[in-house]
Amino acid sequence: MPDKKVIAVLGATGAQGGGLVRAILNDPNGGFAARVLTRDVNGAKAKEFARLGAEVVAVDIDNTESLKKAFSGAYGAYCVTFFWAHFSVEKEMAEVKAMAEAAKAAGLRHAIWSTLEDTRKWVPLSDNRMPTLHGKYKVPHFDGKGESNQYFTDAGVPTTFLLTSFYWDNFISFGMGPKKGPDGKLGMTLPMDDKKLPGIAAEDIGKCAYGIFKKGSEFIGKTVAISGENLTGAQMAAIFAEVLGKEVRYNSVPHEVYRGFGFPGADDLGNMFQFKCDFEEYFSGVRSPSFARSLNPSLQDFKMWVTQNKGAFPLEGTAASA
Ligand SMILES: NC(=O)c1ccc[n+]([C@@H]2O[C@H](COP(=O)([O-])OP(=O)(O)OC[C@H]3O[C@@H](n4cnc5c(N)ncnc54)[C@H](OP(=O)(O)O)[C@@H]3O)[C@@H](O)[C@H]2O)c1
Repeated sequence: MPDKKVIAVLGATGAQGGGLVRAILNDPNGGFAARVLTRDVNGAKAKEFARLGAEVVAVDIDNTESLKKAFSGAYGAYCVTFFWAHFSVEKEMAEVKAMAEAAKAAGLRHAIWSTLEDTRKWVPLSDNRMPTLHGKYKVPHFDGKGESNQYFTDAGVPTTFLLTSFYWDNFISFGMGPKKGPDGKLGMTLPMDDKKLPGIAAEDIGKCAYGIFKKGSEFIGKTVAISGENLTGAQMAAIFAEVLGKEVRYNSVPHEVYRGFGFPGADDLGNMFQFKCDFEEYFSGVRSPSFARSLNPSLQDFKMWVTQNKGAFPLEGTAASA
């Protein structure tokens, strides 16, 4: 243990960080040790990680001092924020600033910051193709992350900027998967027209992050982008149909309609999908499954992921339609 490089993992009991902790624990001879950062050191997931050999340390990303303690003595850190816990870009940016400052104070040798594009570089606020949200954003949960990259750069933290992709897990947990329509047939609603949506099994993000840490300094100061596969809605529906053994229709809805769906964050996600469509060449082009596979040889493609989760899709319920 003393010779191992400690990686302090934010969001360790969640999707991205959890994948990284499991990747470290599953590779006991890999030279790394996992430090699980959680608000609840007595929680079931934290206890299970401790049982498997991880160190568990309390943190609250809204408390800079706790971040400094959590990073202290570590070689590296996985930094991720939780936008959907509060929907505030300003809060998210303050959290990233605190992470970068804590990383600097701890003298970390490698931070991975799980970021996304500041879409305003492609769609300035004056561009009316999509509404401006909260006065100064186009895709709030992207823009704040992208704008926050500067905190790591300004603090001089050796950082890899990791551009992630849409979790396929949203098809299970966020109700985005195929649903039975009034005619009893399965339909999958996504505002992606005929454009490709880069997607990934959430677990694979952490595995790719582990691959980045294992590469040493190769990706420090670099921006890297990962996905499991880049597929159109029609292609994903066809794979669902093949694996589930049932017809699955793809309902592409206009972005304007999606923005109006009424659930919290529908406007943010509607703009996000429009950004991915309007800038498909850039967005899908930069997210490379083959690069992700070079970091994580067990990277799943969509068919593998659907097959593995075949029984988990909540197919009952109302399909949204245009
Ligand atoms: N959904 C997607 O398709 C997608 C795609 C790309 C990027 N993202 C981004 O991914 C980010 C979320 O990452 P995730 O999905 O890995 O999160 P997640 O699975 O929701 O995990 C949340 C974890 O974060 C911890 N947490 C929450 N608030 C905290 C706080 N104040 N201090 C310390 N820990 C806190 C919680 O751990 P404890 O309860 O143990 O403290 C929880 O287990 C979001 O910013 C989102 O924009 C999402």
